[in-house]
Amino acid sequence: MIIDIVTIFPEMFDGPMSTSMVGLAREKGLLDLRLHDPRDHTEDRHRSTDDYPYGGGPGMVMKPEPVIRAVRAVRASDAAPATVVFLTPGGEPFTQRMAEEFSRLPRLALVCGRYEGFDERSLAHADREVSIGDFVLTGGELAAMVVTDAVIRLVPGVLGHEGSALDESFADSLLEYPQYTRPAEFEGARVPDVLLSGDHAKIAAYRRRQAIIKTARVRPDLLAGADLTDEERTLVARVLEGSEDR
Ligand code: ADE
Repeated sequence: MIIDIVTIFPEMFDGPMSTSMVGLAREKGLLDLRLHDPRDHTEDRHRSTDDYPYGGGPGMVMKPEPVIRAVRAVRASDAAPATVVFLTPGGEPFTQRMAEEFSRLPRLALVCGRYEGFDERSLAHADREVSIGDFVLTGGELAAMVVTDAVIRLVPGVLGHEGSALDESFADSLLEYPQYTRPAEFEGARVPDVLLSGDHAKIAAYRRRQAIIKTARVRPDLLAGADLTDEERTLVARVLEGSEDR
């Protein structure tokens, strides 16, 4: 997969995009990460990419010309057709479902804003506008890294163990069940006996119950999308009214 990043701070990507899974995906040739600097598409001596907002107000706005030219250059390049995503707090919320959708694309272009955001005319060149959460970052770069990380781990061959992307938080509108590894006891805290039992049906039932309890406690909003049995709905109701402990 090709991921293009349009950013005036390409150096921010050096460490995070060369380490761990993303770095490995690049080494394996599963990710072709391409950085593009809008400053290369400026014409003034200072290579400026920001300017004062029309109508007044605080901060600076990202100029349209360098951004639009950089996006155009990405779209025009020979490789696969790119889906162009602008990162902005005003975009649609990034979700696991969106990560899955993006992971099936041949090419994803992530456009990072700085300052108070993009000129509205730049946004006309987006296929999607995406936010990674209800908070404001100083720029879209960290958001682009978050999206890249969440997407690339879903590309077949990137994770050693393909199942690990399926059986995890959000896969079924549920948070992930608790995980344990050795030792079986640490400072008096024991791993639940059922996980040591070797009884796979019991383990699966335990994990599903724990996932439902955790989701009901922490993210009850997710349960609207979960496929629950009547018995599981009763469990949710009991957690919500505080009568279910474990
Ligand atoms: N740029 C600034 N804040 C952002 C956010 N929350 N998501 C995506 N891009 C951003």
